[in-house]
Amino acid sequence: MEATEADSQAFVKILEASMVSFLPMAINAAVRLGILEILQAAEQVAEDEETTLSAMEITARLQGRTASLEETETSLNRILRALASHGLLTATSTGSSVTRYGLNLSSRFLVQSDILPSLSHFIRYMQDPVTLLACSKLDQAVLHGGNAFAMVHGSAFFPFTQQNKTYAQTFNNAMSGHSQLFMIKFLDTYGGLQTLHSLVDVGGGNGDCLRSITTRYPHIRGINLELPHVVEKAPSYPGVEHVAGDMFVDIPKADAIFMKWIIHDWDDESCLKILKNCHRSLPPHGKVILVEFILPDIVQESSDDRLAYYLDINMLGFAPGGMERTKGQFETLSLASGFSKLDIICKFYGMSVMEILK
Ligand SMILES: C[S@@+](CC[C@H](N)C(=O)[O-])C[C@H]1O[C@@H](n2cnc3c(N)ncnc32)[C@H](O)[C@@H]1O
Repeated sequence: MEATEADSQAFVKILEASMVSFLPMAINAAVRLGILEILQAAEQVAEDEETTLSAMEITARLQGRTASLEETETSLNRILRALASHGLLTATSTGSSVTRYGLNLSSRFLVQSDILPSLSHFIRYMQDPVTLLACSKLDQAVLHGGNAFAMVHGSAFFPFTQQNKTYAQTFNNAMSGHSQLFMIKFLDTYGGLQTLHSLVDVGGGNGDCLRSITTRYPHIRGINLELPHVVEKAPSYPGVEHVAGDMFVDIPKADAIFMKWIIHDWDDESCLKILKNCHRSLPPHGKVILVEFILPDIVQESSDDRLAYYLDINMLGFAPGGMERTKGQFETLSLASGFSKLDIICKFYGMSVMEILK
């Protein structure tokens, strides 16, 4: 049978989709090897010097190598060119000269430093064997019900993190990195904080979102409501009080409540409990600031929408009853919890900022 162009493209598309999991594996290798930081350091040399690096130049700067220079250069180049083929690094070569690699806007988000936040922990969490193993049981969860994570690891995600300190650290660092980057854009885009005097972050992890907010608005008292094992390890930040508790039982009172990536972890019944507790804790004109992906009403193929579908699969496997939701589903939950209205205020980095008003 002669393959038509459409037939050939379809074949390649499904084969690529089958193998695309090697992409985060290659990103993880680059993160663990410190390649992004090596590329960044090369950018900081004198202006007249080359700011991109060849695989050999990166190899010479790698820590902990025991293979020969040539062997490492060859394997490293294979990782670098795969990343460049996905637009995650720049790759330049003239004629037969060796390829030189550099950071671009996307890979810059992975550079780890003491000052700048990064998504490097996010990729480490996504590629952690605990995470990957749970994903292997999705089909069983679909057929038999229940939750893939619990099938593999013996308990649901959050109880597991309470027992497994290393994995909890990996997860919390992933959330911190994402939150720190997200909040830079959030504070430049969202204008609904100035008039607040107190703000609770429900399930605020290490407290990174509140730290960003209280740094920009020092008059706001930040209260981070978290599970005891998270509070125990959370660093202290000026203006942020960590409160060990349970959002299903009680939420501290404040002018407003912030929740990022909380509602998507839970089924509707649990979300109603959380939102009703929010309603009870807020003053008459209080609001919940909700940050989540919003699913489109009909299937879409954009990168933003794909992110929401991927995370939805993550919730399917990891969070019993957890799911990404449409605007209509967020509205239904809000109104059923006693709130009067939900507005989408802005959208960036794939996520929407919503306000739910009392
Ligand atoms: C997906 S993470 C989001 C963390 C943070 N909001 C962020 O976006 O970086 C969900 C958080 O909810 C917290 N959490 C889970 N159950 C909770 C409960 N019953 N009460 C308070 N926090 C809870 C978890 O410890 C975790 O930090």
